[in-house]
Amino acid sequence: MSFNKILTSCFLSSFMVVAHAVPMGDNPLKNVPFANQTNHGFSLDFDGSKFVKRSTQVNGEVISYRAIEKIVYVKNPVEAEYQTINFYVPEAYFLGKKLNGYSAETAPIFLPNSIGGYMPAVAATAEAKGMGGKTSTILQALKQGYVVASVGARGRTLGHDSNYTGKAPAIIIDLKSAVRYLHANDAKMPGDANKIISNGTSAGGAMSALLGASGNSTDYENYFAELGAAQASDSIFAVSAYCPITNLEHADMAYEWQFYTLTDYERMDMSKLTAQTYNDRSKGMPMITGSLDNKQLIVSQQLKAQFPSYLNSLNLKDTKGLPLQLDADGNGSFKDYIAERIVASANKAISEGIDLSNEKYLTIENGKVTAVNFDAFIAHKKRMKTPPAFDALDLSSGENNLFGDKTTNNKHFTAYSFENSQAKGKMADSNIIHIMNAMNYMDNPQSATYWRIRAGSSDYDTSHAISAILAIKLRMNGKQVDYALPWGIPHSGDYDLVELFSWIDKIAK
Ligand code: DHB
Repeated sequence: MSFNKILTSCFLSSFMVVAHAVPMGDNPLKNVPFANQTNHGFSLDFDGSKFVKRSTQVNGEVISYRAIEKIVYVKNPVEAEYQTINFYVPEAYFLGKKLNGYSAETAPIFLPNSIGGYMPAVAATAEAKGMGGKTSTILQALKQGYVVASVGARGRTLGHDSNYTGKAPAIIIDLKSAVRYLHANDAKMPGDANKIISNGTSAGGAMSALLGASGNSTDYENYFAELGAAQASDSIFAVSAYCPITNLEHADMAYEWQFYTLTDYERMDMSKLTAQTYNDRSKGMPMITGSLDNKQLIVSQQLKAQFPSYLNSLNLKDTKGLPLQLDADGNGSFKDYIAERIVASANKAISEGIDLSNEKYLTIENGKVTAVNFDAFIAHKKRMKTPPAFDALDLSSGENNLFGDKTTNNKHFTAYSFENSQAKGKMADSNIIHIMNAMNYMDNPQSATYWRIRAGSSDYDTSHAISAILAIKLRMNGKQVDYALPWGIPHSGDYDLVELFSWIDKIAK
């Protein structure tokens, strides 16, 4: 057993939860002027002369790069502070050098979004430290030779006078507009706009997946003209999605399918979270705990009962062409498929020195995990959310808030919660619900070719069925999909950059 590994996994499970979704202080670029503001508005013509040069240490090595921060990616921004790209390029490319085999022309463009909780997100900066003083993903990517276009986007709580300008679908329209800017300026910008690799976690993972799935779909067309987005392609090459909170129409039933045996819940109380409680964990994080009441138990049963027919309607197949299905009780080959991913994850952890011999839900023979008791595995911790996990009957969830609009701050987005609403809630526009879900673009011929999807085995923010369905459908539609449930990892992202970057190098070179 490696002490280091145990430390790492303890660190991950106690500290990395929803790191990105927590307010991390003010925008470091708040007082920095926009890079492309002119006397007549924002110019969508990239101007490479406006850079600043920076050098910084990354893992003992000096990385020099050029930065052009706060490029507004639409002509008529609604909230310019959020609708920006921070653009970073390794200095080596201006000296005619190669890095990791890439040149200024061939380097892939890494496109991290900093979206969490479907909240407004300013574009991340290279110099901002990650959790525990960690070097930013952006600097690590520059070290690897990638050009980085870090993107911000409007989110659900945005607005000065009123409270709606960042409601769905603003967040995806913004990401697509940023991609259009990169394609429109490809000849002038370092990096290859035909090699854009999107990266995001949780809500940001869902939006990364949607960006990749919906490339060039005409469904979004009506939204671009008003913003003055560049007239160019919004398709991307590859998607990295960590724990995507996607497929919201079916996430409630999937949640109960996986977690219905768990009647106790426990989650961070985001409403009580302050910078101080977040930074000083010695007193513990503010938590909400409780047990499902009788009404909630009935909701759980009803939602769980809906999942098998949805799942079976997808006609999922494994790599051998065998059907992945569920019976009325929620058992069957689809459940076995996820259990097999858990087994593979446990075996990888063992090969990396983690001792799993005390995990009673695993069958271990000769040092290899051969089976998992799925229901016992699920019971190793409490459920996180109360039913319905996403479309709350009292309209209290972040997702209800996402689907609100100018006149109604929170709305339902599933038939079940609309019919059972305790708040006489309204239903969101069906078209907006449709264009927010990556699953609705699985057969889009212009969707990204390469996909890397990760959801930690200890992530209880959404059912593992959600990422599994996405991965399987993509593979069935001819995409190259790398899908895994890394062992012991809770709801978080960017924890395996060495592996992420080696995947990028494999597909981009
Ligand atoms: C996020 C987490 C959630 O549990 C959720 O429902 C939506 C978003 C997030 O961390 O981005």
